[in-house]
Amino acid sequence: MAKRIDVSGLSAYYGGFRAIDDISMNIEPRTVTAFIGPSGCGKSTFLRTLNRMHEVTPGGRVEGKVLLDDENLYGPGVDPVSVRRTVGMVFQRPNPFPTMSVYDNVAAGLKLNGVKKKSDLDTIVEKSLRGANLWNEVKDRLNKPGSGLSGGQQQRLCIARAIAVEPQVLLMDEPCSALDPISTLAIEDLIGELKERFTIVIVTHNMQQAARVSDRTAFFNLSAVGQPGKLIEIDDTERIFSNPSVQATEDYISGRFG
Ligand SMILES: Nc1ncnc2c1ncn2[C@@H]1O[C@H](COP(=O)(O)OP(=O)(O)OP(=O)(O)O)[C@@H](O)[C@H]1O
Ligand SMILES: [Mg+2]
Repeated sequence: MAKRIDVSGLSAYYGGFRAIDDISMNIEPRTVTAFIGPSGCGKSTFLRTLNRMHEVTPGGRVEGKVLLDDENLYGPGVDPVSVRRTVGMVFQRPNPFPTMSVYDNVAAGLKLNGVKKKSDLDTIVEKSLRGANLWNEVKDRLNKPGSGLSGGQQQRLCIARAIAVEPQVLLMDEPCSALDPISTLAIEDLIGELKERFTIVIVTHNMQQAARVSDRTAFFNLSAVGQPGKLIEIDDTERIFSNPSVQATEDYISGRFG
């Protein structure tokens, strides 16, 4: 079930370039944390260090610790594949497996995890699609290609796929940036429901969205192009948007830069 994240002294590199520097933060279970900050400040990079996706990039390297409850994801002997199963991810562009049906998109991860019985798969596929608020729209077209759905439906399909394997943490990198306002609100409602079961981290450029969906907000910034991104502050969302501790945060959220 939902886990607590405890990051300390985390830096991430692309070859010799340090993209983020010395980040520490705690994230409580069953909360939504929003990452905000100008383009290039390392939000996506940091998000990908939370499920060991960063090191998939050639030259990608991480220093520091990420504890999930008490286990260091970067500890010796930890299998990155099992980390990615525990910490799921939803990307900016909906990316259903193009040749697969709606059903198979959701079932794919379960099959990899060894679930074989058709009745078990049926149950979890339905539960996940219901969980992603998509069931009613697709229940009559489960065998049609996932790529035939609308953008907003595809994104909810990707969320269904991510939650089917029962992760404990769900990372979302600008999950609504390709969506219309109605689909965006549908995803935001869904995030509100999912946080009862998961620990959620969402990157967004939409300040209203951060204010609407998150309990905590982390502001990242970089001092100049080519410099590493840093965590400037993290606090209750209400406080970040009403009375942040740092001037740069206020300037950013009020649209004075970025
Ligand atoms: N694959 C890569 N190889 C080399 N440098 C990279 C790579 N991906 C990102 N970077 C660099 O790392 C820094 C942080 O990038 P990142 O994508 O994490 O920023 P971001 O805050 O998510 O930006 P945006 O808001 O535009 O998505 C940037 O300077 C970027 O150019
Ligand atoms: Mg990004």
